[in-house]
Amino acid sequence: MNRTVFVNGEYLPEDQATVSIFDRGFLMADAVYEVVSVLDGKLLEFSGHLKRLERSLSELDMDKPKDFNNLLDIHRELVARNNVQEGGIYLQISRGVADRDFIYPKDAEPTLVMFSQERPIIEAPAAKNGMKVISVEDQRWGRRDIKTVQLLYPSMAKMMAKTAGVDDAWLVEDGFVTEGTSNNAYIIKDGKIITRSLSHDILHGITRASILRYAAEAQMVVEERNFTISEAQDADEAFISSASAFVTPVVEIDGAKLGDGTPGLVVKRLREIYIEESRKSAI
Ligand code: PDD
Repeated sequence: MNRTVFVNGEYLPEDQATVSIFDRGFLMADAVYEVVSVLDGKLLEFSGHLKRLERSLSELDMDKPKDFNNLLDIHRELVARNNVQEGGIYLQISRGVADRDFIYPKDAEPTLVMFSQERPIIEAPAAKNGMKVISVEDQRWGRRDIKTVQLLYPSMAKMMAKTAGVDDAWLVEDGFVTEGTSNNAYIIKDGKIITRSLSHDILHGITRASILRYAAEAQMVVEERNFTISEAQDADEAFISSASAFVTPVVEIDGAKLGDGTPGLVVKRLREIYIEESRKSAI
């Protein structure tokens, strides 16, 4: 595979694209990112992701790269040049290149890197069979609402899940589930959708915002509050959401099957609604 990628104003073959060893994204994880999904060759929830990107930059006092106003065109160009039908566009902005120092550099140019990834979303196996998760202590930093590239702990937690023979981990802090390693977490009890409310403790998922809006429009009851692993194990259904997984059922938590251990009706309905609405609003 030799994709065309985008680095600091240029479209290049991936094997010719480079970033300095002094880039602060590389040295300090001083970078933010977004993942925009592609379905039928079109972008999903672009304006939501762009808005969160602006917020992440502003929370970190990071400048916008010079191509910031062209991001929609660059996304579309990468989809076209790489002929992506289903998958996503990864975008990363770092504070730029400067000699290693904890103090932010004064006049560094932010680094912008973007590339495409082709991957099945609609027919992903987990969508049909559901995921198994284990709980793991949440040891991430305290500003999880900023989408930074500090993904080592989520990566470790995912490896703990893999070693345990399951698909993902739900992170737990002070006895309550925060979110999944790379997704928001929900349970359903007596028809009610329960998910943690927004704060610095979790990423404000773009998919989450849409799902809660669609659920309300479909007269489903949503409760934004904390829940524990044992409440989750006792729930009727559970699921996760993210740009890359949409709505994906969770059928087992720490070895306890939910219901009969297969995806439930409410989750299936939510996934259908999400796909239908996303197709309608894709650009
Ligand atoms: N992950 N929570 C965390 C910790 C995440 O990393 C993500 C996204 C989400 C869901 O956010 P959204 O619905 O906006 O994708 C929640 C992306 C997809 C990733 O890291 O690949």
